Amino acid sequence: MGEERLDMIVVRAFDPSKDGVGVEEVERRCEVGPSGKLSLFTDLLGDPICRVRNSPAFLMLVAEMGEEIVGMIRGCIKTVTCGRRISRNVRNNYAISYNVMDNNDLSKPVPVYTKVAYILGLRISPSHRRMGLGLKLVCQMEDWFRQNGAEYSYMATESDNHASVKLFTDKCGYSKFRTPSILVNPVFAHRVTMSSRITIIKLTPPDAELLYRRRFDTTEFFPRDIDSVLKNKLNVGTFLAVPRDSLKFGLWAGSDYFLSNPPESWSVLSVWNCKDVFRLEVRGASRVKRTFARTTRIIDKAFPFLRLPSVPAVFRPFGLYFMYGLGGEGPRAAKMMKTLCGHVHNLAREGGCGVVATEVAGREPLKSGIPHWKMLSCSEDMWCIKRLGEDYSEGSVGDWTKSSPGLSIFVDPREF
Ligand SMILES: CC(C)(COP(=O)(O)OP(=O)(O)OC[C@H]1O[C@@H](n2cnc3c(N)ncnc32)[C@H](O)[C@@H]1OP(=O)(O)O)[C@@H](O)C(=O)NCCC(=O)NCCS
Repeated sequence: MGEERLDMIVVRAFDPSKDGVGVEEVERRCEVGPSGKLSLFTDLLGDPICRVRNSPAFLMLVAEMGEEIVGMIRGCIKTVTCGRRISRNVRNNYAISYNVMDNNDLSKPVPVYTKVAYILGLRISPSHRRMGLGLKLVCQMEDWFRQNGAEYSYMATESDNHASVKLFTDKCGYSKFRTPSILVNPVFAHRVTMSSRITIIKLTPPDAELLYRRRFDTTEFFPRDIDSVLKNKLNVGTFLAVPRDSLKFGLWAGSDYFLSNPPESWSVLSVWNCKDVFRLEVRGASRVKRTFARTTRIIDKAFPFLRLPSVPAVFRPFGLYFMYGLGGEGPRAAKMMKTLCGHVHNLAREGGCGVVATEVAGREPLKSGIPHWKMLSCSEDMWCIKRLGEDYSEGSVGDWTKSSPGLSIFVDPREF
């Protein structure tokens, strides 16, 4: 019976002029958590493509049965770093002029880029599950990925979402790849105080781009079009923390100068305004829990000097700021990261957000500097990957799906 019904399904591109309501209805039905438990509701603010529309190429497909939309999937394609190598030119130069050039520059690896596709927002209406629809949508999306030259496809899901993990690993040929952690911190009613021994500088997009390309372009998933990320209107800014007094005459002389004379320790991060893309809401909480949360906020607001860790207002729609491009160097880098996170907290507070979130590799060295609440965070976001074709040459990094994880990962804010 499944197959017969599957034949009646039409898969086509999402049409914003007529599909909005139908898609929203499927989203709504999918968000209902198990009764009595908390569930996270996402309000896409009337734009179902919002979570992919900032990527260089994107597509949303819907599955239609008769007049009814019963499922959808989003996908996007971009070019990212999948490995690193020592460039041949650099090696040749090294042979002839190693005694006159800076050793560090000579041994600096260069990124190896690949075209990678990402699947997100796959939803099948509960009444139409287990008839092969999810599989059909993934296959059609992968066809589009291949037509556009993507070499890999990956997706992310909670590691305990068995339906999703099984669909991708058992039926679609994906393998478990990385398990980064999503770290979430509430925005309190009080401001976080900042260390007076650290200066925070807001970088211009070109300065931020230069710093990222010089220092982080060999990090896995670093997007080659980092400049368009940094110039996007959703980008709140890039912030650099340095020890106070480390700047000559207290002046910022640009990333080029900074990187040739860096202080012993420094940290950097960028902030993305997800609040203008979607809102979240925790549903299904008992009255007692909601009242408790409200009370902690009222006390925190009335007595901000107590710096109470008030429970954020998550039981009504709230926005978030996403921190990405986290990096740093030196023994005090994690401490400086903590100051930067405090700065972002205060920006998010002014921006009316409920939480600040980030996503980092499981072994990220700067993790200890990122304040977060365990109860709001997710320690294992499961990323699964697949190589889309056998006809790709092994290249200089071989098959990325078989490589071991690096210490850090670059999580693109456009798809969070
Ligand atoms: C995950 C989801 C998209 C699967 O859609 P679906 O149309 O029911 O999946 P299919 O019928 O194509 O299932 C294909 C295979 O996936 C696996 N699978 C799907 N649902 C499963 C479940 N509940 N438990 C175990 N395995 C499951 C099975 O291997 C299944 O093959 P089988 O039916 O021959 O055993 C759907 O359950 C859903 O919308 N869930 C809520 C949203 C979500 O979690 N999305 C994924 C985030 S990326």
